[in-house]
Amino acid sequence: MTEIRLANVTKTYPGGQTAVDKVDLTIKDGEFFVLLGPSGCGKSTTLRMIAGLEPISGGDLFIGDRRMNEVDPKDRDLAFVFQNYALFPHLTVRGNLTFGMRLRGVPAETQQSRLAEVTGMLGLGPYLERKPGQLSGGQRQRVALGRALLRDPVAFLLDEPLSNLDAKLRAQMRTELVKLHRRVGRTIIHVTHDQIEAMTMAERICIMNNGKVAQIGAPMEVYRNPADTFVATFTGSPPMNLLEGRLDNGMLTFAQTSAPVQAAAPAGPVTIGFRPEDAVLAPRPGHLPLQATVVAVETLGADAILVASLQDGQEVNMRVGADTSLPAGAAISVYLDSERLRLFDPKTTLAVPCRLAA
Ligand SMILES: Nc1ncnc2c1ncn2[C@@H]1O[C@H](COP(=O)(O)OP(=O)(O)O)[C@@H](O)[C@H]1O
Ligand SMILES: [Mg+2]
Repeated sequence: MTEIRLANVTKTYPGGQTAVDKVDLTIKDGEFFVLLGPSGCGKSTTLRMIAGLEPISGGDLFIGDRRMNEVDPKDRDLAFVFQNYALFPHLTVRGNLTFGMRLRGVPAETQQSRLAEVTGMLGLGPYLERKPGQLSGGQRQRVALGRALLRDPVAFLLDEPLSNLDAKLRAQMRTELVKLHRRVGRTIIHVTHDQIEAMTMAERICIMNNGKVAQIGAPMEVYRNPADTFVATFTGSPPMNLLEGRLDNGMLTFAQTSAPVQAAAPAGPVTIGFRPEDAVLAPRPGHLPLQATVVAVETLGADAILVASLQDGQEVNMRVGADTSLPAGAAISVYLDSERLRLFDPKTTLAVPCRLAA
């Protein structure tokens, strides 16, 4: 079992900035694990500490049963691809890709078949005889990824490996990485700021905010039950709608509507959250009706986003059919799925367990 475990891991850079703050994480053996968060939240620092490229300021790192804090990067048996993919400039793509296998004495035939497999997957066939200087950023990134994939490590550490690729190739590579993971069954720790990458590829996502873990869970768990308003708005496109409301004597009031609620929160202001797809334009059982006015309908192709203004002026996004045609200013009724409504404490931003009756 080569579980990777961070216990209370902290990184303070010289100069005093705490980039990673008491992080506890256990990555299961063979898991596709994604570290997700905005730029500067400490993802790369976390990954670099696991790789051994950055000293750990506090806490412990374990790979399997072994404490690794002071172990040399080359003795950790990890393959990594970082944002600044260091390739050997004097070697061709072929040379860069086969370098490690030659060093380890992999038989020539095996080298050839594995090289063919990885270059095929990454679309690098036409570039095998080129040097890194003759490649685009995206091509270099694929070579770096290919080089890591040609190793046989305990885990792959990937830092934004798809960030330099165009949208089409990125979507294709997401699928390829998932397939590859299924085939080799090795642990992958994938860092990204792109929530779509995280949602589509991860078995579990760890969302980081400001050096801390905001939430760890399966993609749909994080999406449906965000632990706080940061996670609620960092995931989803458009993100979860957040509205201001109040809790009083078992009643939830917002946008000039009231509904009975059981919530583990004291009376006072509360934040109400729901996803754009959890509000519809036609009445349904268990849905809470609200009056609203159309602000705009933005067509996305497969569907559309209706921006609506509620009676108290708060605006919400709803996911509606692509053929929805409503003029700005039209009066509409909006029906919220009461089972999907979420409440958050505005002071702590944390989710509040609740049950709402429509
Ligand atoms: N070598 C460094 N020295 C000082 N501060 C750093 C260094 N590397 C990163 N930081 C700071 O640590 C924080 C986390 O950075 P990083 O881990 O690169 O975030 P992310 O990968 O999520 O964008 C940022 O505020 C960044 O400016
Ligand atoms: Mg980074």
